[in-house]
Amino acid sequence: MSDSYLQDLFADRIGGKNYGKSTAIYKFEKIKRAKRAALAANPGAEILDLGVGEPDEMAFPEVVAKLSEEAGKPENRGYADNGDDVLKQAAARYMDRVCAVRGIDPETEVVHSIGSKAALSILPAALVNPGDCVLMTTPGYPVFGTHAKYYGGTVHPLPLLEANGFLPDLDSVSADVLRKCKALVLNYPNNPTGASATPEFFAKVVEFAVKHRIVVIHDAAYAALVFEGKSLSFLATPGAKDVGIELHSASKSFNMTGWRCGFVAGNARLVRAYADIKDNSDSGQFLAIQHATAHAFDHPQITEKIAAKYLRRMSGLVDMLKERGFAAVKPKGSFFLYVKAPKSARGKSGHWKFENAEACSQWLITEKFISTVPWDDAGAYLRWSVTFSARDAADEQRVLNEIRARLSDVTFEF
Ligand SMILES: Cc1ncc(COP(=O)(O)O)c(C=O)c1O
Repeated sequence: MSDSYLQDLFADRIGGKNYGKSTAIYKFEKIKRAKRAALAANPGAEILDLGVGEPDEMAFPEVVAKLSEEAGKPENRGYADNGDDVLKQAAARYMDRVCAVRGIDPETEVVHSIGSKAALSILPAALVNPGDCVLMTTPGYPVFGTHAKYYGGTVHPLPLLEANGFLPDLDSVSADVLRKCKALVLNYPNNPTGASATPEFFAKVVEFAVKHRIVVIHDAAYAALVFEGKSLSFLATPGAKDVGIELHSASKSFNMTGWRCGFVAGNARLVRAYADIKDNSDSGQFLAIQHATAHAFDHPQITEKIAAKYLRRMSGLVDMLKERGFAAVKPKGSFFLYVKAPKSARGKSGHWKFENAEACSQWLITEKFISTVPWDDAGAYLRWSVTFSARDAADEQRVLNEIRARLSDVTFEF
């Protein structure tokens, strides 16, 4: 097919004239293709999928019932714009009860989001001018950085290293970079490392932000999914509300990924800037969804049940991988286990060398029908999610036993 003039019109940020012509295959597409090929070569095989980044279960029945009730109310039918009071007030209660953040003003310090992904795509418009720099941890969830670049900004990566507890080394940023910096984006409990922050680290972040006049955006998508202790909110840090905002979402904590609802809370001026851009981008999430999400945020015991399930699975997975030689350490939260990828596997039928985590992950799919997500951004690691499909506790055990059995005929070298 010859190019029409349309091909000349694409913006440089998505490739300009070359848009759509790249033959590069990205990580998640490679995983999908490998799974498809493994199934085609072995019809009927069960792929054990630990690569999934979302819950395996539906929202709790009471939340679904609330949605159904709210969807029937005529007053909820129209444009929601920046939302009514219901979710804002539930968010403030949630911040108090679950995150120990007192005194959030629902009127000025909270606005809903159509999920944290949408909020992360909106926020750069409020902060980034051409030439500005944003600090982003790597590996990490890239959405804020992608949009910062759309606006002519640059991304300065902060590697998350095991030696540093997967916390970024803020002292590593040069004065030159800091002069251009507008924002620092953090995410704890972290995807993909599963690491949690500490109050001391967050205190250092506040100090750093004030000193270098930087906005802090804390993506707390996994904040409530904790296996020990309480959720740690950045906003619970003294001074945090003067420098930043925090993003919460019902997606992971309440099995509501498809519902698209969460909230942005914190510094009133930043929340307002977010709301202003949002108002020019969308017309708000359906009020029935907002109200059902408010119901979820008012019932944190739902998250506690979900976290208990993940903890049960996580403990089994960690034990099993340790048996196979992996340096697996149980995270304090999230549903991700991030472990160093082996350099090779040796068994009766072969000796396979892996040049990186991606090669190992491809081998796991092809040879063992086990899907993980590889990360090679700061060391070679595999991310195992405990959101694999399993009907109940017995089925979870069956899946874990199956993984153990499939890995039992090889020795891994690290
Ligand atoms: C770190 C992180 N932030 C944000 C999101 C998106 O969450 P939401 O469903 O609220 O858009 C995800 C989803 O995978 C995530 O891992």
